[in-house]
Amino acid sequence: MASTNEREWGTHINALSTAFMKSHVLFAANAAGVFALLEEPRGASEIAQRVGWDARAARILLDALVSLELIAQTGGLYRNAPIASACLVPGKTGYQGNIVNHISNTVNQWVHVDETLRTGKALHGERHQRTPEELRAFILGMNDIGRTSAREMLDVIDLSSFRNLLDVGGGPATYTIAFLAAHPAMRGTVFDRPDVLAIAREQVHEAGLDGRVSYAAGDLTTDPLGSGYDLILVSNIIHSYSSDTNGALVRKCFDALDSGGTLIIKDFLTENDRSGPAFSLMFALRMLLANGEGDTYSFADIESWTQAAGFADGRVVDLTPQTRLWVVRKP
Ligand SMILES: C[S@@+](CC[C@H](N)C(=O)[O-])C[C@H]1O[C@@H](n2cnc3c(N)ncnc32)[C@H](O)[C@@H]1O
Repeated sequence: MASTNEREWGTHINALSTAFMKSHVLFAANAAGVFALLEEPRGASEIAQRVGWDARAARILLDALVSLELIAQTGGLYRNAPIASACLVPGKTGYQGNIVNHISNTVNQWVHVDETLRTGKALHGERHQRTPEELRAFILGMNDIGRTSAREMLDVIDLSSFRNLLDVGGGPATYTIAFLAAHPAMRGTVFDRPDVLAIAREQVHEAGLDGRVSYAAGDLTTDPLGSGYDLILVSNIIHSYSSDTNGALVRKCFDALDSGGTLIIKDFLTENDRSGPAFSLMFALRMLLANGEGDTYSFADIESWTQAAGFADGRVVDLTPQTRLWVVRKP
């Protein structure tokens, strides 16, 4: 007879091996626009007709969404649960549909995890070249998750003395927008690839901050970052690159800062002995699959780069158990 432990372990392993099914239920509903429709109660056949699904398949998928507690069913009509209404309907302030879409675009990397494990490189040995639609989902996905982190950063760090921000790999400019909105005397420059800057411009325009933001198109691994900044943010960049590339980036940040300026590196950092946090340990694999060079780093790793570049002693600021900041000053 199986012991209690074996039964519990078996249940846990079964949950792990079937977890991908839940992701695919969410991906399918998100991609088809189901949650926007379910702001009103609707039957499976109406949903099927609206999104182009088979009616029986629609009923089965909708029931699966009920099992995930994303929607509810009463009397044969389906409707968003509060979580879906807040986070999966386009236009809502908590919208997460872009990041869900972005993660669904990375499924192929996970299907072929064995290839990456054998080669140590991204799938087919290359960083994934995104289509314009994939790039948009990625960059707007960063905005979905960054809005909350930007608010949390403003709660824990006093940025009121800074005037000239450089947002390295700024993506959709989420942090630039939040910092400038909170500090009217601050100006910002977003450094990123040209196709990403086009999306950043849209976001900055929507936020009404056009006159206070500049854009620098370039490759952060090969191009200089400019000069004259008193604050540099490197948010969610280092996990895409090797230790050597990150060390070189930190040196460029040092050169781009005025004396007395501050560098903030934000990422999913690990404990020095890599005992956790769990999210950051799993995220390293996600970045290995996506970029080949990708990984997550510890405070000791980051401190070695900032000390080598000439920065003074750093301090750690925790935003969440996994999102952490390393804050250093140029002497
Ligand atoms: C994970 S996103 C983070 C975006 C933003 N910093 C945030 O935290 O929301 C990484 C960003 O870095 C940019 N990036 C990555 N490698 C780059 C490179 N070599 N040159 C310029 N930009 C780069 C990407 O285009 C993307 O916008």
